[in-house]
Order: sequence, then C-alpha cells, then structure tokens
Amino acid sequence: MIYLKIDGKEIHAEPGMTILQAADANGIYIPRLCYHKALSPIGSCRLCVVEVKPGPPRPVPSCTTPVADNMEVTTRSERLDRYRREVLQLLLINHPLDCPICDKGGECELQNMVRELKISEQPYQAVKLVPKYDNLSPLIERYPDRCVNCERCVRVCRDWVGAAALYFDNRGYRTTVTAGGPVMDCEFCGSCIAVCPVGAIVDKTFKYSARAWELEKEPAVCPYCGGGCHLF
Ligand code: FES
Repeated sequence: MIYLKIDGKEIHAEPGMTILQAADANGIYIPRLCYHKALSPIGSCRLCVVEVKPGPPRPVPSCTTPVADNMEVTTRSERLDRYRREVLQLLLINHPLDCPICDKGGECELQNMVRELKISEQPYQAVKLVPKYDNLSPLIERYPDRCVNCERCVRVCRDWVGAAALYFDNRGYRTTVTAGGPVMDCEFCGSCIAVCPVGAIVDKTFKYSARAWELEKEPAVCPYCGGGCHLF
C-alpha cells in the first residue's frame, strides 16, 4: 500500500494507481477532459494538472502520474487554476457559442469547467475553422466544431469496440476527428456518444427530446452488445 496526501488529506492507494485514480477513489475531484475511466490515459489535455512535492512544487498530469510514498499533492491553487484557464481558453478559440441548443448543454464537461473557473474573456484569436457538420449517419450526428480533440471517441471505437471507424486527421490546430476508418465502418453502438465530454457526437434519435436530468436509470436487460452503457 502507498501512503500519500492529497489536498492535506491522508490517502492510501494501491501501487500502480495514478494520482487521479487515487483522488477519484477518495472523493476528490480533479478536472479532466481526455481521461475516461474505461480507457487508457493519454495525458493530452493537461487539465488534470496538479502540483506534487517533495521538492519544489512541480506540475504534473495526474492522469498519467503514478502515486508514490510520501507524495504531497495539491489539486487546486491559483497557479493551477491559471494553467487550466489557459488550456480552456485555447480550446474555446474555435468552439461555437451554441450551448443553449447543444444536446449536451447542462451536462457538458467543458461547460462545467468554464463555469467553475469563471472564464468570461477570450484573449486569443485565430483563423476560425469551419469544419463540416456530419449528418450522414442514420443514428449519429457529429459537430466537429464542438470537438475538444480528447480522443475518447477514437480510443473507445478502436480499443473497446474494435471498429476503428473514427480517427484523427491533420495536425495541431487543424486536427479533426474523421469518420470512415481503415478497418471497418461504424456499428452504431453509441460508445462514442457515451464517452464524448462535449456535444460533438450526439444521438440523432434522442436530440431535443429530453434533458439528461429528466431521464431515469433502468436496469439493462440486454446482453453485452458493445454499446455505451457498459462504460459507466
Ligand atoms: Fe489528464 Fe487530460 S485528463 S491530461
């Protein structure tokens, strides 16, 4: 067992756990976008940054940093909030302000963090990208301009479903998730919708019909089908 402190609270964690997993297991929330508990961490969004000691406090991504004995972790500070604000402001450069009609509005991980960090100004400017809205599937709609490139949909489709129907195209600021992968086409399982933290991939049949908080959970009776419900 490994003993450490997170935000002054004494924690014990299994060897091999990451800081973020240890925090989750103890009810301490660390912001995240690319991390999903069903997927291998890739450490790309940097929103889960925390400060660790001993030594001078140094920022590390908590989703890929393993816990260590006597580690002291700080999850919230003025400096960390500043880092997170910068990352979010960069993500928001190209994000549309269509939250009121977005199917994910009110349960969007990006919206929640922007609100929590009180971001109301955009200091950065860049050429506005106009990605193509993808309405070709009978069951799934994609809004590439809402995408935060967390790669959750690409990873779940490739690593859980085995379809690899989604993949990254282009590099840097022009990176987009593209449909129609080299292995096989979409199976309409809904796993990508289940893991998307924003409204970039939505259920066409469900759109505008209800808000998430108006739904009730029912025990599932279907056998394992590769669908999104087993991811939570
Ligand atoms: Fe850790 Fe994205 S959640 S880098």
